[in-house]
Amino acid sequence: MISEESRKFRHALGAFPTGVTVVTTIDNDGQPIGFTANSFSSVSLDPKLILICIDKASINLEAFTESAHFAVNILSEKQQQISTTFASPVDDRFADVSWMPKTTGCPIIADTVAWFDCVKNNCFDAGDHYILLGEVVEFDSTIITPLVFLRGNYVNLALEQKMLRALEDDNTKVLVGALIECQSQIFLIEKPDGYLDFPTASSLGSPDDGDSLLGKLHSAGIDASEHYLFSVFESDDDKSSLIYYRAQVENTTKTSEGRFYAFDEAPFQRIRDEWSRTMLRRYIAERALNAFGIYVGKETGGKVEAIAKPGDYL
Ligand SMILES: Cc1cc2nc3c(=O)[nH]c(=O)nc-3n(C[C@H](O)[C@H](O)[C@H](O)COP(=O)(O)O)c2cc1C
Repeated sequence: MISEESRKFRHALGAFPTGVTVVTTIDNDGQPIGFTANSFSSVSLDPKLILICIDKASINLEAFTESAHFAVNILSEKQQQISTTFASPVDDRFADVSWMPKTTGCPIIADTVAWFDCVKNNCFDAGDHYILLGEVVEFDSTIITPLVFLRGNYVNLALEQKMLRALEDDNTKVLVGALIECQSQIFLIEKPDGYLDFPTASSLGSPDDGDSLLGKLHSAGIDASEHYLFSVFESDDDKSSLIYYRAQVENTTKTSEGRFYAFDEAPFQRIRDEWSRTMLRRYIAERALNAFGIYVGKETGGKVEAIAKPGDYL
């Protein structure tokens, strides 16, 4: 059971956006091992030093503190699944990963944004972690978009930018909607024809713009300022886009048109279309795992971009 103070501290630390890395080495049996880490930092340019922190509870602690080498692989936006694998209790984390050894022999993962092959310079005891200080002996980088982690979520920068462009493009018709949750209840609006729908508007906007989504929510007593992209659905000709965000709020509210419905009593049969019903089902399933993905779809089909399971890490 984590204390309130500890939860608050994690929350504050999680407000710092980071990249995501996989730290690797070779254990005493010659097997590749690795774990997901966002505690990477540059330390010195000359000599070239970087650091990473490893939890004392890690099953690989001994291997990493004893090994003379380690490598840091900075993951790309397309490698969210690798991040999830290397943070989960999987027997062979390298089973579906292509890698090769460089100077030190530590695994360098293919198609990453950058990598640093290091000789261990020092290992400091630091509270519930050890700090591994590495001297970089070989490295490389590309211009691929990195995976970004913020407040316990992966942030898809390329998708967010694409959506911002769609929002600014006068030729694209945009509908922006939101799945608003309060303690396992979802906010739905009752339309004049009796159907239920998520709140929507033609722009995301701001709380003081009454025609925008955030403005409409604000008038309904909902502060959704901390929201994350959840679903993006485009028509095949790219002329219209549906963009859905998700947000969690502290207090329920009831307006003349809308109210919160408990997940286990969600009135699916009254929800307007299959697309919206599917989104709500997916939201409830992902909330149970506390692992959200982003759905990217075209009229002719779509896919959920790898679902993350960051657990309770920062
Ligand atoms: C985004 C993210 C960042 C993480 N950063 C670190 C980190 O910096 N140091 C660490 O020890 N664990 C970190 N973890 C947790 C480990 O990856 C996770 O606990 C892993 O299961 C450790 O496995 P092991 O015990 O097999 O080494 C992170 C997890 C995620 C999802």
